[in-house]
Amino acid sequence: MEINGRTRTCGLIGNPVEHTLSPVIHNTLAERFGHNLVYVPFPVEAGRIEEAVAGASALQILGLNVTVPYKGEVIPCLREVDSLAASIGAVNTLVAVPGGYKGYNTDMEGLYRAMVTEDIRIADEEIILLGAGGAARAVAYLCAVKGAQRVYLLNRTLDKAQKVAEEVNRSADRQVILPMALADFDSLPDRKFLAIQGTSVGLAPHVEDVVIDDEKFYARIHTGFDLIYSPWETRFMKLVKANGGQAYNGLKMLLYQGIIAYELWNGVEVSGADADVVYGKLKAHFI
Ligand code: ATR
Repeated sequence: MEINGRTRTCGLIGNPVEHTLSPVIHNTLAERFGHNLVYVPFPVEAGRIEEAVAGASALQILGLNVTVPYKGEVIPCLREVDSLAASIGAVNTLVAVPGGYKGYNTDMEGLYRAMVTEDIRIADEEIILLGAGGAARAVAYLCAVKGAQRVYLLNRTLDKAQKVAEEVNRSADRQVILPMALADFDSLPDRKFLAIQGTSVGLAPHVEDVVIDDEKFYARIHTGFDLIYSPWETRFMKLVKANGGQAYNGLKMLLYQGIIAYELWNGVEVSGADADVVYGKLKAHFI
């Protein structure tokens, strides 16, 4: 692509941003669509997020992704916030609107789209969710919004699971999230579940770590979805497979959060064929 006077800019704000794969997603899509657009990382120092957003708007930057540690902190700097993002309290995508940006959470819509493409259902399902940190809390909201029948929220610290459950149940106006301590997994109903691994346990370089290390737990799982994609196959995924389940990593979630952001910025729909091309490029970074 030739950069010229009409080139539009999108990018990523966060700290650090050096290891991001988002440029692979967006620059590949721009090339496939023939859009005159570049996507670049912008490191933002602590305490300067408000300036960064105002500056981006002044520079007419078309859209931004937001990563750690600014997904919450960016919210007061926005003109509008989408309702799912507002209830989760985390924004990862900014779309230019008059006078500033509107914030969205495409992480969760991305997880949902990744699951749909793998034929994994949330609606009417009974789901085990591991963790009660920022990521797991967002997944709990997603499950509630997408009509899960029940989510068993298992966390090392029961207190935190209870807080998340109260909050999501209040927002959903039904008792969809059931908090439990990790150690009590034996008291889960006797059936097979979809399990979503939403903690950072097992993330490289700690690839031998896993939240529950008991084979009995994995015999309860028909499908395991780990939000982690580095390593390519986490210990959680290996244990699910060893016990006869299907296991997926989080790379398709990364792919689709990016695709949904690109669609919002450019008013286009990314085809399955284009998604496959981008996925191939992302995957090449791992295997
Ligand atoms: P994030 O925002 O990425 O979700 P976080 O808010 O730090 O990260 O949350 C980390 C999650 O991983 C929590 O659910 C945490 O459990 P606690 O609430 O009990 O701290 C979980 N976690 C971290 N290390 C763990 C470990 N060694 N065993 C079990 N759970 C662990």
